[in-house]
Amino acid sequence: MILYAADPEEWPAWRNALMALDPALELHAWEECRNPAEVDFLIVADRVPGDLSMFHRLKAVQSTWAGVNRLLQDPQLPTHVPIAKMVDAGLSASMSEYIVFHVLDRLRDGQVLRQAQEQGVWRDMKKRRPRDLPVGILGLGTLGQDVACKLVDLGFPVHGWSQSAKKLDSVACFSGRAQLPDFLKRCSILICLLPLTPDTQNIIDAALLLNVPSGAVLINAARGAHLVEADLLAALASGRLAHAILDVFREEPLPPEHPFWTHPQITVSPHVAAITRPGSGAADILENYRRACQGRPLLHQVDRGRGY
Ligand SMILES: NC(=O)c1ccc[n+]([C@@H]2O[C@H](COP(=O)([O-])OP(=O)(O)OC[C@H]3O[C@@H](n4cnc5c(N)ncnc54)[C@H](OP(=O)(O)O)[C@@H]3O)[C@@H](O)[C@H]2O)c1
Repeated sequence: MILYAADPEEWPAWRNALMALDPALELHAWEECRNPAEVDFLIVADRVPGDLSMFHRLKAVQSTWAGVNRLLQDPQLPTHVPIAKMVDAGLSASMSEYIVFHVLDRLRDGQVLRQAQEQGVWRDMKKRRPRDLPVGILGLGTLGQDVACKLVDLGFPVHGWSQSAKKLDSVACFSGRAQLPDFLKRCSILICLLPLTPDTQNIIDAALLLNVPSGAVLINAARGAHLVEADLLAALASGRLAHAILDVFREEPLPPEHPFWTHPQITVSPHVAAITRPGSGAADILENYRRACQGRPLLHQVDRGRGY
């Protein structure tokens, strides 16, 4: 039996999507669970809904989120069952739209043009080509690779950095801490799409920002705790960074008094870069349920040792 314990508002959409794939599924919402001993598979968002010790038959936990950092820290998460994260073409497309939108806005001097209009000024703009604006992506996973392909298609020189060495068409790939400075010095726009782990927490700090070209732009759409906020403010003040586009924050919602809201060199969005559309990705979830019941490895299984 599958038990749904993710966002209650999304339950009808997930139920419809899963039942459309297999009308014989035994699927219940958390509140409807009468017999915990029959639960094989649990669907959650970014946390566990309560004590799972009575789910003796539980074989796997599936998250509807791509980022599982908070889920992995949940003390109620059983240590003996495999965890799968959400990978979905819609989610990747949505993240790529967000990043491409901001990269193109930078290329076409969107902020300068908006200010010029506010002041009623007809500004002559220098035309830049994508090939003049090298981009770097921290994290070449599901989302990072999709973004990389789309930026390559648009003609941007694309660099990527990951844990393990990679080969991707038309992307200059770097890996490991030793190659990080070499990667950073090529990035006029630096995009963070890393998972949040003990290794990557606070990774965007003063030391890292010293390596990017002066006047670079930062886009963080991964997790707020990747960024040391005070170091960002110092880098913007010194001109090391020209602008930062932030979708994620240490504290969410971003408190009303937070300086990021009104900073002229920071663009804030409220963690909306890529949101799982309820029901999208149901086929992989169903496949994972079947795999879990057969004792097979899950699709998009999280490596708990690595933390992503
Ligand atoms: N803002 C939003 O709306 C939103 C929506 C969805 C997801 N997210 C966030 O987006 C991020 C990326 O998600 P994803 O699904 O693309 O992740 P993923 O598939 O797990 O990819 C992670 C990438 O980061 C690399 N990496 C991990 N630790 C590293 C380290 N210590 N040093 C260098 N590289 C490292 C991995 O390297 P290897 O390839 O070598 O393993 C991999 O390339 C996550 O933080 C997630 O929470 C945000």
